[in-house]
Amino acid sequence: MIIYREKDYDAMSRRAAQVIAAEVVHKANCILGLATGSTPEGAYKCLVDWYKQGLLSFKDVRSVNLDEYKGLAPDHDQSYRYFMQSNLFDHVDICPENTRVPDGLAADSDAECAQYDAYIRSLGYVDLQLLGIGRNGHIGFNEPGDCFIKETHVVDLAESTIDANARFFATRDDVPKQALSMGIGAIMGAKKVLLCASGEEKADAVYRSVCRPITPNCPGSILQLHPNVVLVADEAALSKLIAAGVAL
Ligand code: GLP
Repeated sequence: MIIYREKDYDAMSRRAAQVIAAEVVHKANCILGLATGSTPEGAYKCLVDWYKQGLLSFKDVRSVNLDEYKGLAPDHDQSYRYFMQSNLFDHVDICPENTRVPDGLAADSDAECAQYDAYIRSLGYVDLQLLGIGRNGHIGFNEPGDCFIKETHVVDLAESTIDANARFFATRDDVPKQALSMGIGAIMGAKKVLLCASGEEKADAVYRSVCRPITPNCPGSILQLHPNVVLVADEAALSKLIAAGVAL
């Protein structure tokens, strides 16, 4: 695992954007696995800036997103499709038909999940998978549990995740209780993983993911088995690794 220790959120965002941009420059028709949440917002801003400066093109890029809330329409302002449109897709030259986010409104969610996996397989898996991490160690919406789930699946969100994401909704009751999430199989099938984290509240999840035993109780810990992981994090998120002498 390569660890980039950055000073703060802005530096983390810039470094993460550099890793993504390097992939796009190196392979113009790469497959990007994309993430939502507060963590990647700054990186997406950098990518949009660089696109506007003519430094990058997404013309031949295809993307698959990690997850979507079940029951939210694409135009709901808290849906992950809406997030991707407003933070990245609407501002760069990616072809709309080359972007995929699980359909939160699919009448048959299980069929949608199976189709999502079939699509990822048909692409030959992802070249670069961007990940944030939940405070409880979740990646995508793979919540802590008794086992790792390989396939894209419908998830019952953990109460702690609902609490953490309530800040984006008018009330806690408005937070969907379920989501469709890419499974561990597609994430681990990526040729490269870019894990990003910022802030003290992620320090424990980062530490458990990098230094502690691999367990489905901390889904991020499975990344220890991936041969090509880049961790980009700020000092607050790395604080436990720094204390343990791992990220100096
Ligand atoms: C969300 C998303 C994850 C994200 C995580 C952390 O629930 N499903 O993909 O990595 O929680 O979010 P944030 O970056 O806002 O802390």
